[in-house]
Amino acid sequence: MSTHSLHARPRLLATGVPTPDVLERAQREFDLKVWREGDAIGERLIDEAAGFDALLVMPGDKLDASMIQRLPASVKAIATHSVGFDHVDVSAATRRGIPVFNTPDVLTEAVADLAMFLVLAAARNTTGAEASLREGRWGRWAPSHYLGRSLNVMRLGIFGMGRIGQAVARRAAAFGMAIHYHNRSRLPAELERGGAFHETLEDLLPSSDVLCVCAPSTPALRHSLDARRLALLPRGAMVVNIARGELIDESALFEAVHAGQVGAVGIDVFQREPAIDRRWLALPHSTLLPHIGSATREVRSAMGMLALDGLRSHFTGTRASNLLNP
Ligand code: DGY
Repeated sequence: MSTHSLHARPRLLATGVPTPDVLERAQREFDLKVWREGDAIGERLIDEAAGFDALLVMPGDKLDASMIQRLPASVKAIATHSVGFDHVDVSAATRRGIPVFNTPDVLTEAVADLAMFLVLAAARNTTGAEASLREGRWGRWAPSHYLGRSLNVMRLGIFGMGRIGQAVARRAAAFGMAIHYHNRSRLPAELERGGAFHETLEDLLPSSDVLCVCAPSTPALRHSLDARRLALLPRGAMVVNIARGELIDESALFEAVHAGQVGAVGIDVFQREPAIDRRWLALPHSTLLPHIGSATREVRSAMGMLALDGLRSHFTGTRASNLLNP
């Protein structure tokens, strides 16, 4: 990793507009340019990055191996304004000697809060109930209207028991849900907190009245929830996804909802976001959000600061804990 005089501020290209405090710091510590267009920078990054020492990229920017190879030689460090880094080919960056930084930990609780909101929204069909009120369809109170399910009689299956999965488990346990999980490896007892470990996703699914997808998006896990696996859920189970759209085969999920195999969904992430397959918009029993898991003022600010810490560490020759390269 090269060092850089702090007096010659490194040139930083940010492909999205950070929170005001992060922007202010970035302007102080870097010679900053911000891509402010409404659409993602895409392939234009190659030309736009010419002469820049560092990039601050967003989860919607795809920096695959071909893109990384074509980045101008001036680019010496990359930070992504996200904990997920499925959109950045870290191995390709490593081959070019480019360090990559992400934003772990600071968003864990906020994303888990949103997961819990989606579990509740799916279980109580709040989106459908609210629509009926707004559309003037709210009739006389009746015991059989607007029925959902009680969380304290349901089992929550967590697919991916990393930091966010564990934070979801803590919340769901407080609501009285029984916790089941599948993870690459079993957690130590103090982190497992009574949750039941399942060796395989296939084992987890029949025990999931609500399935919460919290796994990282890797090529091996693409479409982990396909038609065959969705059929293993108890009939009428609910599916929540706060991780990445690629983990679920969307067409299979639509079919499962229409067939009643999946009773409700709560979704914050989509396969080709921000483009939304129109079939989502007609999907019954669904609460759909535009990838806002980490979107609190506090968290987005902390993420931006952590990304800048990583970039700065590179230019001051220190080591940052959020470095992704091996
Ligand atoms: C992340 O940081 O990976 C989130 O999905 C972005 O909100």
